[in-house]
Amino acid sequence: MSLDFNPKLYLQKIYQARDFIRKRLPKNFVPEVVLTLGSGGLGEAGKLIEPVCLPIPYEKIPGFKKPTVVGHCGNLIAGYISGRRNKVAVIGFQGRIHYYEEGDLKSVVFPVYVARSLGCRLYFATNACGGLNPKYKPGDLMIIKSHIDFFMPNPLLGPMIGFPGETRFPPQTSQYSPKLRKMLKKAAEKAGEFGYLHEGVYCAVTGPTYETSADCQFLRKIGASAVGMSTIPEIIIASSLGMETLGLSLITNVIAKDGTNATSHQEVMAAINDKKTKKRIFEILKGFFDLYQS
Ligand code: HPA
Repeated sequence: MSLDFNPKLYLQKIYQARDFIRKRLPKNFVPEVVLTLGSGGLGEAGKLIEPVCLPIPYEKIPGFKKPTVVGHCGNLIAGYISGRRNKVAVIGFQGRIHYYEEGDLKSVVFPVYVARSLGCRLYFATNACGGLNPKYKPGDLMIIKSHIDFFMPNPLLGPMIGFPGETRFPPQTSQYSPKLRKMLKKAAEKAGEFGYLHEGVYCAVTGPTYETSADCQFLRKIGASAVGMSTIPEIIIASSLGMETLGLSLITNVIAKDGTNATSHQEVMAAINDKKTKKRIFEILKGFFDLYQS
């Protein structure tokens, strides 16, 4: 948090962004789910959404920052995902801001407040991360069942902002709804992709450096199954506002037992752009929305 953080202005900006977005949506469209699409899953979920308006570039929305990382296009999309049971109104954030880009978590989590103010009740994030569990393989998926967040500042540090429903001391034990995680597993099973799906603990680090071999050995010892540079600040804010939360991680690289194999951005990008992996993510998300009930 920067020292000149002004909670009143921050709240005003949230409502300005909400009003700006609402004006571009059909009158009766109230989003229920927000999908934050990180490097893992970006294009795939976008294909599932039947749009109700043109994509809105982040740079046009008050308070939103444009991502600087390749592949994070920075558009808000809104529309319906038609499941077998019903049509779900969703907004999709195509790309996110990471802490390492801004050095300011209040900018990172700003879109979460806006999504809640638009009506969203489920916060569903996808990301790419490095596997620490030796059983994982590149291209596998991991449902987040819990997280470790000791290496990033908490996004709630600083004054409360006056947002409806915010809490000063939010518990951290009710995230990652077991009911919704089960739906993801069922979806993977139906898609014949169950063998690629794991459940594990995501450890958030600031980046932008990848981990040293000692970092990796340490993270494994403290119980992390995978390590990445995003998502958790968003989940903390969403759950602190009473939203249900869900996280799906694409394992792009697997760190050797002794932690010595260097991770490279090329390796990560190759896994993200792999056709089979993309199809896997698409099928699982599609299957999830077949089961999800408004
Ligand atoms: N470490 C941190 N973040 C990552 C990694 C990793 O190995 N792979 C993809 N994102």
